[in-house]
Amino acid sequence: MRYEVQTLLEKVDIVDFISRYVKLKKTGRNFVGLCPFHKEKTPSFTVSPEKQLFYCFGCHTGGNVISFVMKYENLDFQDAVENIAREYGIPLKDWNKKTSSVYDALSELADFYHRTLKKSEFALIYLKQRGIELDLIDEFMLGFSDGNVKEFLSSTRTPRDVFFLTGILKISGSEVQDIFKGRVVIPIHDVNGRVIGFGGRAIEKDRLPKYINSPESPVFSKRSVLFGIEKAKKHIIEKNLAIIVEGYFDMISLYKLGVKNVVASLGTSITEEQIRRLKNYTENITLMLDSDEAGIKSALKAIDIFSFANVNGEIVLLPESEDPDSFARKGGYEAILSLIEKRMPILDYYFEFFRQKKGLETVQKKLAFIRSVMPYVERIRDSFHKNLCVRRISELTGIPEHIFWDEMKEKSQKIDMGSEKEERRSLQAVDRVLLGVVLNDPELAQVSGLKEILGHIKDGKVKGVMERFLEMGAGVDALQLNRFLSEIEDENLKESLICAIFETQTLDRDGRKKIIDDYLRHVRQIVMKEKLKELTERLAIAEKEKDEMRIAAILKEKKEVLKTLR
Ligand code: UTP
Ligand code: MN
Repeated sequence: MRYEVQTLLEKVDIVDFISRYVKLKKTGRNFVGLCPFHKEKTPSFTVSPEKQLFYCFGCHTGGNVISFVMKYENLDFQDAVENIAREYGIPLKDWNKKTSSVYDALSELADFYHRTLKKSEFALIYLKQRGIELDLIDEFMLGFSDGNVKEFLSSTRTPRDVFFLTGILKISGSEVQDIFKGRVVIPIHDVNGRVIGFGGRAIEKDRLPKYINSPESPVFSKRSVLFGIEKAKKHIIEKNLAIIVEGYFDMISLYKLGVKNVVASLGTSITEEQIRRLKNYTENITLMLDSDEAGIKSALKAIDIFSFANVNGEIVLLPESEDPDSFARKGGYEAILSLIEKRMPILDYYFEFFRQKKGLETVQKKLAFIRSVMPYVERIRDSFHKNLCVRRISELTGIPEHIFWDEMKEKSQKIDMGSEKEERRSLQAVDRVLLGVVLNDPELAQVSGLKEILGHIKDGKVKGVMERFLEMGAGVDALQLNRFLSEIEDENLKESLICAIFETQTLDRDGRKKIIDDYLRHVRQIVMKEKLKELTERLAIAEKEKDEMRIAAILKEKKEVLKTLR
């Protein structure tokens, strides 16, 4: 299927394709048009034939042909690929066959891990400590990977290649490696109960990362995954309520207690895809989150998505420093149930939070309150809910309702750039520019001392991207760049990168070179300053010990460093 996606990207020209949906006009090396993803009067939606990518400078949405279709038609990855293929008459005959054998491979792996767990005392003890005994291990098909896949591979009739397609087994030298080695493995199913991927929990306390997940593939997309959906589905329908927790073990713990209408979002913030999937079963969705400000913040981020999908989004917050797993295990069924009863619309919860934590006594506090809530109120689509919220804000602040309505009316005439989108550009400006330059001009990156810069980039994500990209060498073409981007799991990071590419696209060689040189100079200065600090410390020691020879040597070295700094 990787192969099919690649063929598709090779055959479909992004300008040609997007022209079917958006009227595009050539300007310089790019094409521009009115963005289909937000309202605008002057075109900021840009398509690059060179890079085969699109990007909107207004709402910061970007991606390749496949992401365009996913967003435009609200489809998941696989459906989007099939759609494009159909339109262009590209045969995907192997696609279905291959996809189905990938499912087989994943299910075989799940069995294999499950059998291995039963023999692995260490892992069984770990799970037991977490309150997970054999019945749950069987019900959730939990497993363990000891990394010994050789025998397994020789006993199965599924071709090795299919296991490699899942990204879980990898060839390294002459050995086959398992990315989950040494981890408890938790199968993730689709709603029909087919295994689509896994999560792997480290057993040792300090091992990092604590969790890893299956790589993205046409059957597994972290953005739309809902762990536990195959079990929770019928309970969600029955209760007409879905509860979303963050972690695997949160879901398992609640399920064990008998609270079964629960799915886990797997850590990252709630996505549109996840909510759309849940909406098939209920319109009532409750987030169960940690009670710190971060918890509320992440709920606030979900407000837009809830209102967009027209679902009733509520929230319950856990007592301080508890997660659903720990709370369920301490408090039991009754405690969890009474917590769930206390759920509230997210905004109402936030109103309460603000009133209690920050207060509304002074004019300043009232203003701060209004400023922090109005952006959310403005975007509420349901007019009843909106009315109720405005009334509540008016009660809380003593300002007449109509003032808020007038204000919103005026604002809605200006362009709206969602706060969630802003975040997509959240990489530090300097790092973003550097990345943009490198991604635009891989050749330049190879020659100009970037390896030296790498060691000094603080942001781990930026560094990782840069390293992997530099490994690809100088001759990276649009297709390779596209594939590189499509393998980045973190959607925010991906969009940041596309933003970076478009922002620096118009620079010429000299401009790009200057950016790298500036960065290099900056890095070298930091190195020198560190060196200087170290020399000063050594000097102090040498002086204390009255070691004249050493003092002279250090002074000389210091002089050299100072010279380069100037
Ligand atoms: P948490 O850090 O809250 O962990 O991550 P947890 O669920 O309480 O894990 P335990 O109880 O220590 O085992 C919540 C979820 O975020 C994802 C996982 O899906 C996890 O269940 N996550 C977390 C990752 O994907 N990677 C990580 O390194 C950490
Ligand atoms: Mn936990």
